[in-house]
Amino acid sequence: MSRDRIIIFDTTLRDGEQSPGASLNREEKLTIARQLARLGVDIIEAGFPYASQGDFEAVQAIADQVGTEGGPTICGLARARKEDIARAAEAIKPAAKGRIHTFIATSDIHMKYKLKKSRPEVVAIAEEMVAYAKSFTNDVEFSPEDAGRSDPEFLYEVLERAIAAGATTVNIPDTVGYTTPDEFGALIRGIKDNVPNINQAIISVHGHNDLGLAVANFLSAVQNGARQLECTINGIGERAGNAALEELVMALHVRRSFYNPFLGRPAESEDPLTQINLGEIYKTSRLVSNLTGMLVQPNKAIVGANAFSHESGIHQDGMLKHRQTYEIIDAQTIGRTENQIVLGKLSGRNAFASRLRELGFELTETELNKAFVRFKDVADKKREVTDRDLEAIVNDEIRQAPELYRLEHVQVSCGDKAAPTATVTLRLPDGTDSTDAAIGTGPVDAVYRAINRIVAIENELIEFSVQSVTEGIDAMGEVTIRIRRGDRVFSGHSANTDIVVAASQAYLSALNRLAAVLQDENAGAAKVHPQSAAIAR
Ligand code: KIV
Ligand code: ZN
Repeated sequence: MSRDRIIIFDTTLRDGEQSPGASLNREEKLTIARQLARLGVDIIEAGFPYASQGDFEAVQAIADQVGTEGGPTICGLARARKEDIARAAEAIKPAAKGRIHTFIATSDIHMKYKLKKSRPEVVAIAEEMVAYAKSFTNDVEFSPEDAGRSDPEFLYEVLERAIAAGATTVNIPDTVGYTTPDEFGALIRGIKDNVPNINQAIISVHGHNDLGLAVANFLSAVQNGARQLECTINGIGERAGNAALEELVMALHVRRSFYNPFLGRPAESEDPLTQINLGEIYKTSRLVSNLTGMLVQPNKAIVGANAFSHESGIHQDGMLKHRQTYEIIDAQTIGRTENQIVLGKLSGRNAFASRLRELGFELTETELNKAFVRFKDVADKKREVTDRDLEAIVNDEIRQAPELYRLEHVQVSCGDKAAPTATVTLRLPDGTDSTDAAIGTGPVDAVYRAINRIVAIENELIEFSVQSVTEGIDAMGEVTIRIRRGDRVFSGHSANTDIVVAASQAYLSALNRLAAVLQDENAGAAKVHPQSAAIAR
């Protein structure tokens, strides 16, 4: 891989999916992977295949369908143990370019309390497991977990041995988001200067946002020799998340004259520093937010709803006189186009399909049929259907939580003098229908109570949010909800012109995810988290 540009390693489907409530099924992962390929990421970390049969199959499907010739490298994560590595190797096999990413912790605190291993033991495992991974593929990445808090001298030794054993990329994780930009940059510089065989590997960085410094840390790492950035869409990931892909890519784009010299280019070079198709950024952000149920905060850089809106009179005045007075990025660069009104009630299937293709959605015949029925329904209620509406319809239709319970009918009566009452009919997993009714504090509460009477899976509703897809009184409402059972969180999302229907669908979608996990657990197939267990061999 080239060292005079920045390699973008996307871990939305692995670290991003570790965010509470963000779990995705195989179809959703495939949809995101296809979009990541369109976005132009170099490497997709598609998952942790050892976690469960479902995770294995998702990585395998992505390797097969997205990792085709000319497509991105498909990577599988593996702890430094043979079973994990063999499983990752099997999962990535169908890809034209496959990578195994193996890791073991190197900080004193992790080695003592989590691994219960000495330094020499950890070095030996790292060396042996990298060599084992190398027996399956040439492309092996090694990460010393919690590098940000590891003793640098020890880190140099581990990295040297991992590279000697065949690692082609060495990734430096700030696992707990503890370092500052100067420290992280110095760590990368130290590695460049003190690991004798470092030129045989690409230096990568991975970092969490616990102090809000992940992106700044990565940019400092670039200045000091890092050439691969591990990031996620919208910055999702464990705890406070990972470095956000869109922020890194746009910082490197907007400020390329500043970063060019660190990559040995003339400051004025216009060659892109990454291979990302900037115009796909916004759509990818919306897709990931919809499918994971992780909302994007309005003031989020680059992709937040307010990132390009100018409220104050002074700003608006300046913008009208000269856009660049208050704007450093043209919204269209990242694909935030004017919200065009394109279709209406009389638009046919061909017009619908062709607009979706223009928006970059590739649907199967069955998906297209389902989406068209939804479109007709929306167009009947809403005079003008915009691109944003189409996006919401399609994202809703392809968000396929395993439908153990399906909404057949929901009816609510409410008003200022009436007790909100809901009647709900659900199709049960055995194919029969069940109807129940409940009174609640409001219409949505009544619906949830009625559903609970039928499904009877204990859970706590921890988040309920409604956003309108577009402006106007007839706008579709998008509902995102999160429910908790024990220490696990599940999310659900739906869009409809009727927010009670959207709320019912969103709740059922989250319940279906919870029910599917309970089913797997009952069948003895609980998921393994890559970083919680301390197994080294
Ligand atoms: O944060 C971390 O250290 C990780 C590793 C598995 C790379 O996610
Ligand atoms: Zn991580």
